[in-house]
Amino acid sequence: MKSKRFEVLAQRPVNQDGFVKEWPDVGLVAMNSPFDPKPSIKIENGIVTELDQKKREDFDFLDQFIADNSIILENVEKVLAMDDIEIARKLVDINVSRDEVLEITLSMTPAKICSVLNQLSVLEMMMALTKMRARKTPANQCHVTNLKDNPVQIAADSAEAAYRGFAEMETTTAIARYAPINAMAIMIGAQVGRPGVLTQCSSEEATELRLGLKSITAYAETVSVYGTEQVFIDGDDTPWSKAFLASSYASRGIKMRYTSGAGSEVLMGYAEKKSMLYLESRCLFMTKGAGVQGIQNGSISCIGVPGAVPSGIRGVLAENLLASMLDLEVASGNDQTFSHSDIRRTARTLLEMIPGTDYIFSGYSATPNYDNMFAGSNFDAEDFDDYNILQRDMMVDGGLRPVSEEEVIKRRNKAAKVMQGLFRELGFPAITDEEVEAATYAHGSHDMPERNIPEDLVAAEEFMKSSQDGVTLVKALYNAGFKDVAESFLNMMKLRVAGDQLHTSAILDEDFNVISAVNDTNDYMGPQTGYMMSEERWNEVKNIPNAVEAADFE
Ligand code: 5AD
Ligand code: CA
Repeated sequence: MKSKRFEVLAQRPVNQDGFVKEWPDVGLVAMNSPFDPKPSIKIENGIVTELDQKKREDFDFLDQFIADNSIILENVEKVLAMDDIEIARKLVDINVSRDEVLEITLSMTPAKICSVLNQLSVLEMMMALTKMRARKTPANQCHVTNLKDNPVQIAADSAEAAYRGFAEMETTTAIARYAPINAMAIMIGAQVGRPGVLTQCSSEEATELRLGLKSITAYAETVSVYGTEQVFIDGDDTPWSKAFLASSYASRGIKMRYTSGAGSEVLMGYAEKKSMLYLESRCLFMTKGAGVQGIQNGSISCIGVPGAVPSGIRGVLAENLLASMLDLEVASGNDQTFSHSDIRRTARTLLEMIPGTDYIFSGYSATPNYDNMFAGSNFDAEDFDDYNILQRDMMVDGGLRPVSEEEVIKRRNKAAKVMQGLFRELGFPAITDEEVEAATYAHGSHDMPERNIPEDLVAAEEFMKSSQDGVTLVKALYNAGFKDVAESFLNMMKLRVAGDQLHTSAILDEDFNVISAVNDTNDYMGPQTGYMMSEERWNEVKNIPNAVEAADFE
């Protein structure tokens, strides 16, 4: 006989997820593998001659890069002699300031920081993250893409997403050659929705850099680093080539962060028997050594891997915390579908949403799942109201706000019209009134008329080949009669000259003021300190349109 109870349970969404027992030989261990090295360091004449049990002559290129660039050496011997539990307690202790913790954690080795994190429960990690994240005010990032790379829809969706509260928004392409048009559409939609939102277009690295140099993107993020030498080499990269790329962005005043996260080395078959957290620790030390201000981590596109092993979601939180312990900005994942279970995907997000991070999602899908060209996110456009109500239930600022249908329609319509005017001025293929209308009311690309894709691609290629850039767009927007959008676009370009948005964890307010870890430093030290919602912000969060009030009964 079969149990009817078990039959019902077998049908539950969670049982469609894949799980695997720990398997250290291939790196299928979230934290604390028996093969992880023990922390150690030896310094002779200012040179690191041993790092985490390895002698300098045996270093791979990550060890060498980290030993030479990533660790503040003055304190390191003292810190390595400290008890792991003592440091773990300082992380959680509200009476120990963020600065005091950083003085210790910036002088650790990759293995030492893991051995401290191994002492913490998820609750303690959440406490630590509240204190350790760089920017006091938490924020959010979203994906805006669609199946057809429809630029009118990208602009309308971006306007809505910016209005809903995202501080950063990114697009990518279904067809790679669409990149410049997608980049223009997200930038323009964002400025219509809420001036000052930062945007990017994830593309092949050379194209992505060129989009930045042409000033049609404001930041870059999908610059991947990995925890083992062989995975780097397979990507035709080294820590130095990635550091060079990072400097190229910085030299032109373009904000950038790296991307890393648990599971990539396992998937590529070169985990060297190490735990996912230890390999991620190496990625983050490499990031620090390259002088990059931040990281997108939390497994990212590999979340299925840590999601399948014991303590894997705890390990993902540990890597977000680890980044903040190195004083890096953290865009903390939650950006890829990993479970069929709504319970599980919500629980996973609460680990970052409740403490707050620099960007709770490094890609909330501001479109329906079917339009998400980053392979689907943990939360989608259909979840906007759930998310708003989670903020309201728990009085937690997750970076979004409830909005009215009327205001959303207004902004979507304007963004679509701006694209129509821009394309006309640039001599790009026409955007019809029918397209503007469809984008105004669309849920996703199924609601959009078809465009002539080859014609758009010709326009995109000509733009890339020519010397046209952001200035061309500012003029076109102005000539199309959208002076306000032209001005916002120009303001985004002006930022690069001052470069204040290159500080750690920078976002912009609607007047283009930079809010970063420098002028909005996280000063959490227990109850009634650190970030607290202003009365104005709480009113915005709690006032959902569908709550009844006393007046309704009079
Ligand atoms: N490690 C490194 N890079 C990653 N990306 C996603 N997940 C990881 C990871 N775990 C990068 C890839 C991908 C983009 C969306 O982010 O470059 O193309
Ligand atoms: Ca992202």
